[in-house]
Amino acid sequence: MNREYAGKLNEKFTGESVNICGWIKKIRNLGGVIFINVRDISGEVQVIVEPDNPMYKKCQSLGTQYVISIDGLVRKRPDNMINTSMKTGAIEIVAKNVQILNTSPTPPFVVDDNTNAQEELKLRYRFLDLRRPVMQKNIIKRSQLMKAIRDFLYSEDFYEIDTPMLTKSTPEGARDFVVPSRIYRGKFYALPQSPQIYKQVLMSSGFDRYFQIARCFRDEDLRSDRQPEFTQVDLEMSFVDMADILSLTEKLLQYIYMTISGIKLDMPFLRLTYEKAMQEYGSDKPDLRYKNKLIDFTDYFEHSNFRITADIIAKGGKVIGVSTEKILSRAQIEYVTEEIKKEGAAGLLWFKVQDGKLQGQVSKYISGSFENGTYLIVADKMENVYKLAGILRNIVTRNYEKPVRELSILWVINFPLFEKDEQTGLVEPAHHIFTMPTDETIEMLDKDILKVIGRQYDLVINGIEMGSGSIRVHRRDLQEKLLRLIGLSEKRIHENFGFLLEALEYGAPPHGGIALGFDRLLAVMLGLSSIRDVIPFPKTTTAQALFEKAPDNLTERQLKELHLKIIED
Ligand code: AMO
Repeated sequence: MNREYAGKLNEKFTGESVNICGWIKKIRNLGGVIFINVRDISGEVQVIVEPDNPMYKKCQSLGTQYVISIDGLVRKRPDNMINTSMKTGAIEIVAKNVQILNTSPTPPFVVDDNTNAQEELKLRYRFLDLRRPVMQKNIIKRSQLMKAIRDFLYSEDFYEIDTPMLTKSTPEGARDFVVPSRIYRGKFYALPQSPQIYKQVLMSSGFDRYFQIARCFRDEDLRSDRQPEFTQVDLEMSFVDMADILSLTEKLLQYIYMTISGIKLDMPFLRLTYEKAMQEYGSDKPDLRYKNKLIDFTDYFEHSNFRITADIIAKGGKVIGVSTEKILSRAQIEYVTEEIKKEGAAGLLWFKVQDGKLQGQVSKYISGSFENGTYLIVADKMENVYKLAGILRNIVTRNYEKPVRELSILWVINFPLFEKDEQTGLVEPAHHIFTMPTDETIEMLDKDILKVIGRQYDLVINGIEMGSGSIRVHRRDLQEKLLRLIGLSEKRIHENFGFLLEALEYGAPPHGGIALGFDRLLAVMLGLSSIRDVIPFPKTTTAQALFEKAPDNLTERQLKELHLKIIED
């Protein structure tokens, strides 16, 4: 007898004897007949055990999530019994033989799409969570996306090359996860934050088109779109310019969106400079599904007698706002005020325009014609004001605006090469230290390094940083200079970057590349807000694996072998 997938059965199988194997989703005894909904990876089908079946008694003791094998006859359901909400609802299987392959205790939550279990509980029992059809769909899409990416990149003559997991610290701006060495007392491997240096070394070795679906490790604060262990579509190319990498990435995205979601993307994608993105949206990852842009109100307040803003403007600050078509209530404005204060704003200014008439808090300072709606405004010093207004825009769009398009894909280009860390005051690379300055600004390296622009590009989808890349420095002298500029000593340069510098010195070709966040990409394609839903075994927001329980203790013996001692607080 052929084993069939439960969800693939249909009227064409009527009259056939089949075998199905799967899990019991639901079991009911209605008027003597036992109805069992059996589910496998393909879907579910209804099985009927009639009272005259020799297995009938045994079937009364079955429970949900038992694993069973059923031999039976496919039969058309009577017209009035057809279940249109079920894919296989036109048929049912009349059981002949029922075999119990495994039993199950009562599951801690309903193993179905609609379950009200907390995420903690679902992660604790991830094997059951992954048995839910929605989760199975996500993981299957993950598999299909990996294949689509591979198919495309192989067709573009890329080589898939893997790089070490036990490696040396690679600076991508986060803390490293480290692995103690047993053989070398007091020495540690680091898990890679990305394959960045290795892929550059591969370019030096002549593999002109590299890619890898690479696992990366970063010990940083977690959020819904950040995991300590995540996956990148990492690629690098030699003898290329920025335009080549952007166009290849666009073609890759076009291919996978069509293959996975059936969506046709228009090319080329919009390109915004970092400067413009900050001025118009207050963000280097603007979400252009929403049409509202920032509005500069500084001129209205500059010569006004409104003290708060006049003081800020006098010190070089600005007054920037954002609008929503909605006329917000007092309570709503109050809510936005509280939210933006949490982000460091001193307060929120506002006015409304109704039937062309200006009214409310700061309306007397404003003149001119404005569209109907509510205008929400922050004033702050120059370094803060655009970022703050960008956050304000996010709060407003998230709560009150309707998207004007379903998908927003764009490039943000021409980032500053360096930025000042607000807390430490130190200059740090905006992307990473391997990024090439633009020809036009390279001379500023010796004058005002914050004015140097990098040949860097970020891919932004729906307001999420989906990928980041750059044209790299391929000359040793320039790379050393950049490393010195961020304050690294000769010793650290030699110890941490010596091997890269050598690879550059011995004839590295001009090269560049990009890495896309694979988990983020999949989540956005599936319309999910958390990447935990597309990763088979994710960590919690407190970096724990609840099901297998990691991190965990080591035995005394393991610690001793690794020359480690735990210091109690
Ligand atoms: P970057 O650090 O920007 O660049 O990472 C590339 C992309 O990876 C995704 N990403 C993450 N996804 C989930 N969890 C995380 N903790 C996480 N961190 C990053 C983001 C991000 O855009 N070596 C460079 C790339 C290059 O220059 O080629 C790099 O790693 O979507």
